[in-house]
Amino acid sequence: MVSRTIFCLSAFLVLSVLSTSASSSEELSPYYYYHVCPQALPAIKRVVEAAVCKERRMGASLLRLHFHDCFVNGCDASVLLDSSPTIDSEKFAIPNNNSLRGFEVVDQIKLEVDKVCGRPVVSCADILAVAARDSVVALGGPTWPVLLGRKDSTTASRDQANKDLPPPFLDLPALISNFKRQGLNERDLVALSGGHTIGPAQCFTFRNRIYNKTNIDPEFADQLKSSCPLKGGDSNLCSSRPNTRTI
Ligand code: HEM
Ligand SMILES: *[C@@H]1O[C@H](CO)[C@@H](O)[C@H](O)[C@H]1NC(C)=O
Ligand SMILES: *[C@@H]1O[C@H](CO)[C@@H](O)[C@H](O)[C@H]1NC(C)=O
Repeated sequence: MVSRTIFCLSAFLVLSVLSTSASSSEELSPYYYYHVCPQALPAIKRVVEAAVCKERRMGASLLRLHFHDCFVNGCDASVLLDSSPTIDSEKFAIPNNNSLRGFEVVDQIKLEVDKVCGRPVVSCADILAVAARDSVVALGGPTWPVLLGRKDSTTASRDQANKDLPPPFLDLPALISNFKRQGLNERDLVALSGGHTIGPAQCFTFRNRIYNKTNIDPEFADQLKSSCPLKGGDSNLCSSRPNTRTI
């Protein structure tokens, strides 16, 4: 049932769990930038709103970016680091390559925030966490307080990303243990899977499921087949379900 959530999905649910699982041992606070740069959070919100206004899907992409950051060694912006002689960028991990989006919006946010603050005080990890929340709000979803004060990583690991990010073919027990390794329980898994309310998936990620599996609503499977043929169209995005907000 849960693996069905990799397609265009269901109702909005509480998404605060990822935002609170940071790697720093210092105390996080929603007021972290209150004195040092009160303009920071409004600036992030402005850029996110403009980006979502331009392309609604960008809200989904920014939410997923935060998830893919957090699952690999904590919410430390490691997902943003490009390859260098010492860094094997996570951008090329299997779940990220040709799939993760929104990097240029994050660059734009960072530029804007550094400008309004007069210096680079806001971490990229915090930017990702706030941008995820602001994206969901911009798309008409719920809001939540984002605890702040994350520190940015200076390293990244493609291998770790391949190990830690859940692939789309996992069954429920495998998803549960994948989330457990992050300190997240079954309730967190269900709630966070609600993130798929606001995003599509490419055909190749769900083809096997809609043509080969029986534990799927046949009407739903048929509907997805119209945008995902047996052969070809690997990167076609799934059509949205009836009763689902289209993005
Ligand atoms: C439970 C395990 C999860 C699996 C197996 C999974 C898998 C996937 C896959 C395969 C895609 C499509 C990627 C593509 O076709 O390029 C996707 C998209 C997406 N996922 Fe997940 N995901 C999971 C959890 C989450 C969580 C926890 C969130 C956020 C709370 C999330 C948010 C999204 C969003 C918003 C998209 C659409 C992104 C876009 O349009 O750019 N996912 N996911
Ligand atoms: C990432 O995608 C590019 C473009 O499709 C491809 O050439 C490259 O081999 C991929 N990298 C990895 C590590 O899979
Ligand atoms: C269905 O399953 C078979 C056997 O595992 C596999 O060879 C085939 O590629 C699958 N079909 C699709 C559409 O994924």
